[in-house]
Amino acid sequence: MPTTSNIDRACNENASLIQRMAALWLYRQQSMGGTVLTNAECEQLMQRYAKESLAFAQTMDMAYSLAVNVRLNAHAPYSKFLVGCAIIDESGSIHVGCNVENASFGLTQCAERAAITAAVASGNVSLVAAVIVTDTPEPTAPCGACRQVMAEFGRDMIVWSRTMGDARAVYDVYELLPAAFTW
Ligand code: THU
Repeated sequence: MPTTSNIDRACNENASLIQRMAALWLYRQQSMGGTVLTNAECEQLMQRYAKESLAFAQTMDMAYSLAVNVRLNAHAPYSKFLVGCAIIDESGSIHVGCNVENASFGLTQCAERAAITAAVASGNVSLVAAVIVTDTPEPTAPCGACRQVMAEFGRDMIVWSRTMGDARAVYDVYELLPAAFTW
């Protein structure tokens, strides 16, 4: 549970505004879900940055819509399992990707890595959030390889996994991969 680091991040005056709004967004999701206890400092920040918080929440919703759309472009003739992903970068821009399978199965690329590749190709290596969409009863967490790739570009990136229905789960990359490979 990434509770302390979120609150620290939300309150950190040295972090960028979007990183702080992302941390507040995650705090709000977790406090609504009962995963973290209400924190007075975060509550105050939410009031102080009400407009910016709302703008970030709208960006997350937009990312979800884009991930729903790009999912339909997935090339998944073998598994028939379509995945869409939208990445939000430090400037608030959104980059999308879908899974691309191959007859040589091991060459398959996941939606998350495709979206990260698109973000990096557009000149953005500071990544704030990933929104993943699958058509499953429960949200799916990203595979281990994608977690390591996420860690390269956003150790504290938010991962919001949603289904085509109402089910959703939130994580951050620290939580998904506490001991990422670095050297
Ligand atoms: N897949 C993703 O796109 N992301 C993940 O995190 C896990 C799996 C894709 C790969 C493959 O095309 C299909 O889902 C079934 O594994």
